[in-house]
Amino acid sequence: MNDVSNIKLVQADGSAVTAGYMPGFGNDFETEALPGALPQGMNSPQKVNYGLYGEQLSGTAFTAPSHQNERTWCYRIRPSVKHSGRYERIDLPYWKSAPHVIENVTSLGQYRWDPVPHSDRELTWLTGMYTMTTAGDVNTQVGMASHIYLVTESMKDAYFYSADSELLIVPQEGRLRFCTELGIIDLEPKEIAIIPRGLVYRVEVIEGPARGFVCENYGQKFELPGRGPIGANCMANRRDFKTPVAAFEDREVPSTLTIKWCGQFHETKIDQSPLDVVAWHGNYAPVKYDLRTYCPVGAILFDHPDPSIFTVLTAPSSSPGTANIDFVLFRERWMTMEDTFRPPWYHKNVMSEMMGNIYGQYDAKPQGFVPGGLSLHNMMLPHGPDRDAFENASNADLQPEKLDNTMSFMFETRFPQHLTEFAAREAPLQDDYIDCWKSLEKKFDGTPGKK
Ligand SMILES: [Fe+2]
Repeated sequence: MNDVSNIKLVQADGSAVTAGYMPGFGNDFETEALPGALPQGMNSPQKVNYGLYGEQLSGTAFTAPSHQNERTWCYRIRPSVKHSGRYERIDLPYWKSAPHVIENVTSLGQYRWDPVPHSDRELTWLTGMYTMTTAGDVNTQVGMASHIYLVTESMKDAYFYSADSELLIVPQEGRLRFCTELGIIDLEPKEIAIIPRGLVYRVEVIEGPARGFVCENYGQKFELPGRGPIGANCMANRRDFKTPVAAFEDREVPSTLTIKWCGQFHETKIDQSPLDVVAWHGNYAPVKYDLRTYCPVGAILFDHPDPSIFTVLTAPSSSPGTANIDFVLFRERWMTMEDTFRPPWYHKNVMSEMMGNIYGQYDAKPQGFVPGGLSLHNMMLPHGPDRDAFENASNADLQPEKLDNTMSFMFETRFPQHLTEFAAREAPLQDDYIDCWKSLEKKFDGTPGKK
């Protein structure tokens, strides 16, 4: 876990606020960076202590069912309208939004990429975001995009928010700091973070260059999946999610705020840092989670369940059980099944699967799917273990075995994923990926009992 004891935000008077985290997922948190800044017993007093302004940030419609309703009350130095001016359209050429279907790019196929290499260009969180696939439609708030980020530079007097989406961030190399309106999140590989739609933040590089994966969720927010008969424990547990305590900047300096809105980017000039929330309470907040605390559940005698057993987070669609996005984790675990083909079986899936490797070796593909790499198995396209994985798993002496040194994930969506031009032409696509199944042999010759 991170040591957050040395993280401080400096205020105008030189005093500092120490950062930290509060445990829980979707809790109704309350936190204040100055004593007495948070109103008690009401949301909107006639005058807020310290001369702060009260403001609500709504993450769901006002009238959403109460168990889904999310909002946060912020008590800030200036209201957000003071962190907004005239908007000027800018271009971030590699950050794409759905619908983005390119003529002459074939998304139908099984694809795999080597890690997108770091370049010698200086890249921030905004300029270093490279979209690989898009799905659904950002304007109707369904679907997603998958991105690779390559970040070498901190944002300086520059801030961002996405009105289109919440971002699920999966680091693979380097360490980043997300200074948000509601507090500070430090993030490193084997952790993930979620930055909610509409929340203003700045990204700094603690240790670079940084590379990782982003799932941009246009739809309903990520939530924990129902565990069903598994019960109240295992998989991702609520206490392991961490939301930052309040931290603020009182800094008067010319700054830029970039907004992503309906797939377009706009800039506005402001005269101060917008990270000026001194106290807040509510359940709409950024969060991080350590993937090493994910407790996998699986088969303990024979066969194995569908990969949905490894779901960390799910973003529902309007169709119950059919997710806009599932975030699924394949991590270290014991394999104990008897008389079983233990790797993932061959399959076709109505959902589309974007996988990324965080570290180690994935059991269905011992070669070629390397840390930092991606693979895409699109809607209804067959895939499964390569020949070596098939032969080894079919002939192995099945002892209990620990699958070690492995952490991969999947962004699985109900929508087909369309490749960007970057993914099809610039990223290191492995042209020979489909050959990994080429040497699978026909074994059938009509002889009963043959295996
Ligand atoms: Fe699959």
